[in-house]
Amino acid sequence: MCGIVGVTGSDNAVKILLEGLQKLEYRGYDSAGIYVNDQSGQDYLVKEKGRVADLKREVGPEVHGSTGIGHTRWATHGGVSVANAHPQVSQDNRFYLVHNGVIDNFQEIRSDYLSDVSFTSQTDTEVVVQLIDKFAIEDKLNAHDAFVKALTVLKGSSYAFLLMDREDPDTLYVAKNKSPLLVGVGDGFNVVCSDASAMLRETHDFLELLDGEIVTIKPNEVKIEDKDGKPVERDTFHVDMDASETDKGTYPFYMLKEIDEQPNVMRKLAQVYLSETGEPVINEKLLNSMKQADRIYIVGAGTSYHAGLVGARLFENLTQTPTEVHISSEFAYEQPILSKKPFFIFLSQSGETADSREVLVNVNAANYESLTITNVQNSTLSREATYTLLLHAGPEIAVASTKAYTAQIALEAILAKALGESDNQIVAQRFNIRQQLGLVATGIQAIIDAKSKLEDMAKKYFLNTPNAFYIGRSLDWSVSLEAALKLKEISYVQAEGFASGELKHGTIALIEDGTPVIGIITQAKTAGLTRSNLQETMARGAKIITITTESLAKKDDDIILPDVDELLTPLLSVVPTQLLAYYTSLNKGLDVDKPRNLAKSVTVE
Ligand code: F6R
Repeated sequence: MCGIVGVTGSDNAVKILLEGLQKLEYRGYDSAGIYVNDQSGQDYLVKEKGRVADLKREVGPEVHGSTGIGHTRWATHGGVSVANAHPQVSQDNRFYLVHNGVIDNFQEIRSDYLSDVSFTSQTDTEVVVQLIDKFAIEDKLNAHDAFVKALTVLKGSSYAFLLMDREDPDTLYVAKNKSPLLVGVGDGFNVVCSDASAMLRETHDFLELLDGEIVTIKPNEVKIEDKDGKPVERDTFHVDMDASETDKGTYPFYMLKEIDEQPNVMRKLAQVYLSETGEPVINEKLLNSMKQADRIYIVGAGTSYHAGLVGARLFENLTQTPTEVHISSEFAYEQPILSKKPFFIFLSQSGETADSREVLVNVNAANYESLTITNVQNSTLSREATYTLLLHAGPEIAVASTKAYTAQIALEAILAKALGESDNQIVAQRFNIRQQLGLVATGIQAIIDAKSKLEDMAKKYFLNTPNAFYIGRSLDWSVSLEAALKLKEISYVQAEGFASGELKHGTIALIEDGTPVIGIITQAKTAGLTRSNLQETMARGAKIITITTESLAKKDDDIILPDVDELLTPLLSVVPTQLLAYYTSLNKGLDVDKPRNLAKSVTVE
């Protein structure tokens, strides 16, 4: 949430900042701004409401500089306005600050320290930049020391800060706590970014920063200090990703590109995590650690939580280990009574979700072992968990997650197979994961190849409806939750995923003439029951759509998926629902990749 970029030592800071912001726009797109300084007395502050493209239009040809900072905002404190956009500026126009996160005690700071300052925004960020300025003036501190002093006043806050001082304009100052920020190292220049994808055109070598560190960055120098002011030596890590991987290519929206990439993601996971003979290749230490566990706790938010629901079935079936799934924002503050030997799995596409991280902090404090399954190398959750497995899905840019969901489930299946086999579980031994992932990849491709039918269905059923229901039982219910989330978040149709047996206990009252009800029917044991529940809604006027498998199909079914192992049907049944959501949003003329009020990588609690 909120994207930060910075550069020092470049002959074209404006271009680097604007291109970087464009890449980070998925993190927030309410407003954007840049501040640049050319080191010879010229500087420019440009801010605009709306998208980075709107900001670009405001940046005239005169705007130039060699050092600068930029920000794309997802509003937390203060509405969407130019005044609330970042960079925020101190009242004497000396300090410029961009921020990702939330300052919990900003009101107290304002009244305790800054009652004489006239504020120009409603943001918590302005409080910090004014505080830095105050310490610089009153305590005669340089920018570094004023910044450090200001940080000591912030309580219980999450932040990634990037600061510039007009009086020392080739220097960037950075600090972070709970929110992500990286320094990219170049030859004669250095950059700062919320995520590496923003700066891959400039460098592939990055320095991770830890909470509490202060970093001073000049064109030829990056100085990291720990919280006691002691210098820290750290090697860079190399990000092995091509800048073009974050491009949309010929696709109208990233979401469609990412849906289309799913067959290849399945193949990639098989290539990375399976041997030539099809056996899982998973870190032995991780497997041993998981084998000690008497219960697995899967923790995630949103789509990742939904992938966890499917994962729980995989772990229970293939390893016979009881598995619970929890929403991270609930678990963090209402932890259930844990088993004697718990093992935690964190699912997070971004690896940065603040709600999940809060749980991990508690898990680490209690000395429990954990695994993060994530798409982002060196992300906070991957660094802080005991073990990491990467999804290798390639950058997911669309706010609505698609390929990360299927990648998470496929990797959970590989891990469950590995764990079950290492424990001599017969079900796991019989589960032919390589063959199944091959079937899944070709099955997803077949659904994608027939996408025009799904566009027609989206137009017919969803374009003019205020609400819709996805229903199913067991794994089909889990997919219903994800299908409904996809539809509501990008098309604004009020959609619910429902356990089909529960409808008759209340919710069926909502069914009216024409309400679309989509039944997901892939589990032999419950197929008949879900079909009966669909009939009950049809009798009350619902328009029915069915998604089922070849072996369970009946004459009038709408979408028929190729057969795969029942445990893996979510990998197929979710795909038509992703496409239905995509085409509904597209045909409503909405911005599919950037739905209102949302942002990817949710770094506030
Ligand atoms: C929905 C979606 C979100 C994320 C959630 C967790 O399409 O993308 O619900 O799944 O914000 O994000 P990660 O997986 O990055 O922890």
